[in-house]
Amino acid sequence: MERKDAQREAGLLRAEIERHNRLYYRKDAPEITDAEYDRLFRRLVGIEATFPDLVTPDSPTQRVGAAPAEQFAQVRHRVPMLSLQNAMSEDEVRAFDERIHRFLGRQDMDAPEAASSSASVSCTDPSSSPARSGGDITYVIEPKFDGLSAELVYEDGVLTVAATRGDGTTGEDVTANVRTIRAIPLRLQAPPGPGDLFAPPAVPRLLEVRGEVYMPVGGFEDMNREREARGEPTFANPRNAAAGGLRQLDPKVTAARPLDFYAYATGVVDGLSVGSQWALLQALRDLGFAVSDLARRVTGIEAVIREYRRLGDLRDSLPFEIDGTVVKVDSFALQQKLGEVSRSPRWAIAFKFPPRREVTRVLDILVQVGRTGALTPVAVLEPVRVAGVVVRRATLHNEGEVARKDVRVGDYVEVQRAGDVIPEVVAVQTARRTGDERPFAMPVACPSCGGPVVREEGEAVRRCVNASCPAQLREHLAHFAGKRAMDIEHLGDKLADQMVDRGLVKDMADVYALRYEDVASLDRMAEKSARNLLEAVEASKQRPLARMLAALGIRQVGEALARSLAARFQTMDALAAAATIAVAEGAPDPLAEVEDVGPVVARSIRDWFGSPSNRILIDRLAQAGVRMTHEPAGAVADPRFAGRTFVFTGSLTSMTREQAQALVAARGGKAAGSVSRKTDYVVAGADAGSKLDKAREMGVAVLTEDEFRAMVDDGNGGVPPDAT
Ligand code: IVH
Repeated sequence: MERKDAQREAGLLRAEIERHNRLYYRKDAPEITDAEYDRLFRRLVGIEATFPDLVTPDSPTQRVGAAPAEQFAQVRHRVPMLSLQNAMSEDEVRAFDERIHRFLGRQDMDAPEAASSSASVSCTDPSSSPARSGGDITYVIEPKFDGLSAELVYEDGVLTVAATRGDGTTGEDVTANVRTIRAIPLRLQAPPGPGDLFAPPAVPRLLEVRGEVYMPVGGFEDMNREREARGEPTFANPRNAAAGGLRQLDPKVTAARPLDFYAYATGVVDGLSVGSQWALLQALRDLGFAVSDLARRVTGIEAVIREYRRLGDLRDSLPFEIDGTVVKVDSFALQQKLGEVSRSPRWAIAFKFPPRREVTRVLDILVQVGRTGALTPVAVLEPVRVAGVVVRRATLHNEGEVARKDVRVGDYVEVQRAGDVIPEVVAVQTARRTGDERPFAMPVACPSCGGPVVREEGEAVRRCVNASCPAQLREHLAHFAGKRAMDIEHLGDKLADQMVDRGLVKDMADVYALRYEDVASLDRMAEKSARNLLEAVEASKQRPLARMLAALGIRQVGEALARSLAARFQTMDALAAAATIAVAEGAPDPLAEVEDVGPVVARSIRDWFGSPSNRILIDRLAQAGVRMTHEPAGAVADPRFAGRTFVFTGSLTSMTREQAQALVAARGGKAAGSVSRKTDYVVAGADAGSKLDKAREMGVAVLTEDEFRAMVDDGNGGVPPDAT
């Protein structure tokens, strides 16, 4: 074949194959059989094999998957990918609508010039300019797809980069993977329009399309069945499977996953003029994207609520998972006026569905003993699928809850799962009782050690009070060694179980007394793993005080509070001293000086340090060589940060809020969520809101982002900017 002919035929084949892809994946209306499709495809592969230089990046043959990558490159989003505020009830959605009315009404009064500030957005859709104050707002309501969002960059109509959302500012480059998703066009379709044969309508010069990569439920179930048959681990739900599929270093793995895509928004756009969300959805459809036909444009919030109910009724019959709806102000001009607040647009909200419930049977009720000794009744269930996950156990919280709901073994119960939380039993279907159900009684002895259990005044839970109860010890050890505590690599739940069962570890200090022979005697512990574990134990001795405090499992003391305490007291000794001195009536309590330490927390810290066995534990840890200080020996804390509390408000441009908070933490400071009299600095980014007002009111020092940066960069102990 002549090269010239090959080039022409390849071009025709590509267009034809992509057309069939669209018919198949987007319209669900294939015109040819799979075999015919394969023939076209193989013909193109053949031509490209003969003339490799004719392969184009948008050729459908390129969807099969490029060579694996070492790691993902980072992609910075030109326009940040925002997240959405949630509404969980109809009233919350009405409140959203009221906020919009208030905001727009105020703008009309305060800033008449705002009306012209949206000139950069061309309003081509007249119906999207409703009366603002008073008149009802026009909204677009769309399904909230339960997958992961991605941004696709098209330059001159060709897909060049695809990235995950990441932290909203920077995502991962998943271009090679996204190319394997057939619902995603590799080249934009020219929109229908005024063009003719000689001047066809142009595709946008630059178009960043945003949408959701998801896995249809059918594909998910098939894939899990195959994985199960091969003895591979299955995915918990379609969202995890989609995320796992997209974030694959080997695009061939992605290619084998049944991923799909719906488009719903854009980033930077050059060469496409639309004035509303509704017009945008149509434009995206015309350019070749799958756009949900469940979206509706309605006026007034009550119409939104009716649509929400309609989608809720459809939810179970859809071939993909949705966890709610997204309600967006239709007009882009209004969107622009409304702007954003704390990384979410004011003009949109995620109106979530209530958690899913399913009915199943209680086979048994067990009692688990937690790290703090709390006894938790747990229902063992006939396995049931709830919102994509097979549930076998559900918490019953505490005995009061079991009694209130009167859950009995043998009962039919409603089980609910919301997001990633532990499934719970919400109600009993008492009408289905036969009389054979067995009521449940809390044990009077600990099911793990047989020791006494007590229920303190005013507490909902019973606790085992035996400090060396193996169940508590196991949980405690796993917590102590966990990633967010002492971070002892290789010491997971299974090893913790064994160490406790064999009596190797009776308290946390025993971890540091483990010898090679002890460790090597454990099941499935090869020489190398034993050495690795001991090395990890050794390395953990250097963890700073905050981690040690979080690891000890003092009730009420979580990671954030542990960091505050460490920053304030600097050493374990200083904290222990503060926690054990007698505070005279009316005198200031040194513990209460710390951000977030109220009377309950202070009481809990005092109780812990007041126990002689805990003081002995601390002494033994120190003797074993575990560092008990905030700063490594010899280091000087940055005095402008150490022990000080920062609050961030508004959006930062040079870093994310999480990064800024990490910078503060790394210097011994603390980042808090709200302004109080314990706040030392408020860092105000763009569009700072009420926190800034409050800081000014309370006379808290306010820093700009640049001033904060300067403080961070100039790490050698300068003077903090003037506190005015
Ligand atoms: S619009 C600024 N539309 O929800 C608004 N998001 O919490 C940008 N999502 O990260 C999002 N379906 O992954 C939009 N129809 C839809 C959506 C949707 C699902 C996800 C998206 C985003 C998250 C926001």
